[in-house]
Amino acid sequence: MSLIDHYAVFGSPIKHSKSPRIHKLFAKQTQQAIIYDAQEVSAEQFNYSTSNFFKQGGKGLNCTLPLKELAWGYADIKTERAELSKAVNTLTLQSDGSILGDNTDGVGLLTDLMKNHEVNLANANVLILGAGGASRGIILPILEQNVASLVIANRTVDKAIHLANEFTLKGTIKGCGFNDLTNQQFNLIINATSSSLSNDTPPLPEHLLYKNGVCYDLAYGNEPTTFVRWGQKNRALKNLDGLGMLVEQAAEAFFIWRGVRPNTQEVIALLNTERG
Ligand code: ATR
Repeated sequence: MSLIDHYAVFGSPIKHSKSPRIHKLFAKQTQQAIIYDAQEVSAEQFNYSTSNFFKQGGKGLNCTLPLKELAWGYADIKTERAELSKAVNTLTLQSDGSILGDNTDGVGLLTDLMKNHEVNLANANVLILGAGGASRGIILPILEQNVASLVIANRTVDKAIHLANEFTLKGTIKGCGFNDLTNQQFNLIINATSSSLSNDTPPLPEHLLYKNGVCYDLAYGNEPTTFVRWGQKNRALKNLDGLGMLVEQAAEAFFIWRGVRPNTQEVIALLNTERG
């Protein structure tokens, strides 16, 4: 067993994950001695690999695609935000030996949007594209910002309607298909589909964005994603991708594990410089 606390990110594919880099930068900045590595773990291997990791003295895990729902099932106890989102991205070994599951994606997105980019969500009409795990994690934190309305639009319409129905007690929310968006306008459109990964964009009607509206793609890449390009074409005031959210959700996990808040601005600036 190592004397240095061990953390890791599990997922598949994991080769291109920036999480080890981000956590190493946080550790250096805050003078914390930790090991953080990335491990290729499939859904089938998840339970075995996770038990093994903690048995061998691991202190905390980040879980990414396709493991967030499995991590939710694995955790002994969960925070409220994780419980409701049915997805966990951070597992932490507690002093009594139990595993705490949390979801830092929502707070990561909100910090990036509201603090880093000064986007005000109060009274905004917000549209989320996609009804998978990525959408689940961000719905509640958005509704808590007193938005005027939240619409979830998805290729498979039933999934959007079911997902929205889970949150009707928490705010004004409805689910629909892309075709139903005609004649509607939004202040903020968030792409939570995995369409960017296949260089695709959901079929969206024209004039969907209010003047001075903002587009945010949860995905990121070295080149602008297809949704970021859609936002540019549709004259979004701000066109953001998920790099800032990635760093902010990591910072929240780091805080849970180490009790120290790293300076995220420095790390975001460095990663942005590196991708040109
Ligand atoms: P994640 O956990 O990343 O959300 P997921 O649960 O597989 O992944 O969900 C992927 C989401 O992207 C779904 O909403 C999916 O739409 P369907 O529910 O209809 O499958 C959406 N998606 C993926 N590729 C898409 C594409 N090319 N166009 C539109 N939506 C797409």
